[in-house]
Amino acid sequence: MTGGCGFIGSALVRHLCREGRDVLVIDKLTYAGNVESLKEVEGKYTLLKADICDQAAMDRAFEDFQPDTIFHLAAESHVDRSIDGPGEFIRTNIVGTATLLQAALKYWRTHPDFRFQHISTDEVYGTLGADGYFTESTPYSPHSPYSASKASSDHLVRAWHDTYGLPVLITNCSNNYGPYHFPEKLIPLIILNCLDLKPLPVYGQGANVRDWLYVDDHVKALCLVNEKGVSGETYNVGGHNERTNLEVVKTVCAILDDLRPRKDSTKYETLITYVKDRPGHDLRYAIDPAKLMDKLGWRPEENFESGIRKTVKWYLDNEWWWGPIHRNKYGGERLGKG
Ligand SMILES: NC(=O)c1ccc[n+]([C@@H]2O[C@H](COP(=O)([O-])OP(=O)(O)OC[C@H]3O[C@@H](n4cnc5c(N)ncnc54)[C@H](O)[C@@H]3O)[C@@H](O)[C@H]2O)c1
Repeated sequence: MTGGCGFIGSALVRHLCREGRDVLVIDKLTYAGNVESLKEVEGKYTLLKADICDQAAMDRAFEDFQPDTIFHLAAESHVDRSIDGPGEFIRTNIVGTATLLQAALKYWRTHPDFRFQHISTDEVYGTLGADGYFTESTPYSPHSPYSASKASSDHLVRAWHDTYGLPVLITNCSNNYGPYHFPEKLIPLIILNCLDLKPLPVYGQGANVRDWLYVDDHVKALCLVNEKGVSGETYNVGGHNERTNLEVVKTVCAILDDLRPRKDSTKYETLITYVKDRPGHDLRYAIDPAKLMDKLGWRPEENFESGIRKTVKWYLDNEWWWGPIHRNKYGGERLGKG
């Protein structure tokens, strides 16, 4: 697995290790990678600290570890950071994916059962109006440097399948949330700002809609696709949990009012502050997961209400994980103003 020390990757590593699978994690350990996220399964996986753009290191990793499959999650993943500095997104997400595909192709030629699974985003499809859903055949129309780099990587993966016959699977998922999420992302940022009694930044009027997917439901979808998906196909992952950003922020505030009320009994939502919108901000993302549900039988276990409560509670109980990040790596400053 590449990117196994990141948010989604670490959830997948914890899951696979609990199932007794033999996992090699390849991770460069950028600001977003954190081995602490794998503490629960310490000693049960192997870590190779390497850059996916390093062809020799990737070739060696395939030869040494002899994988049945690869879950490719390593990426630069934050839209706001892609606005400030697109270079690393082009390098890791595009050049890194091509490098890994080359290593995989060489390996597959002598290991014909091997499959390459690429993890991507619904942001490649662009933006929706008030209604409609993204399906697997929605044309690509990315708008941010992040989504354009992920779209490029999806095209490369398909090209290696169509040109060389490499068995590939692609999943495009909606916004994930849950434990071990780096605090630059909306939900953990809001939780930590509430705890610090700092302003809760809401872009524009908070009307942008995202389709929220609990990370462990995503992990189950990834494993199902890996096991039963048809080579060369794409599967969209989303759980029909559309919320505006403002609704998300207000929900987090209400849960904290309940679980950790402010000493002066003021509601957390009084901290909401509207800030200038993100440049090129897509209005609405929403996934139609019918293919994954009908063909592979996937069902999410959490709805937004249950998943967000679990998530807020996890942050309240796990300051050991986010405290050092919050103090030393990222304290909540605004990114991506353009
Ligand atoms: N988080 C979401 O809501 C979401 C939604 C859709 C798709 N995705 C995709 O899922 C994947 C995982 O997302 P995430 O939220 O866990 O990301 P993340 O930013 O939390 O983790 C990314 C991981 O990749 C590693 N990495 C970065 N550059 C690397 C390089 N050059 N070589 C090796 N490792 C490198 C980092 O150290 C980190 O551990 C990404 O491909 C992302 O595009 C995420």
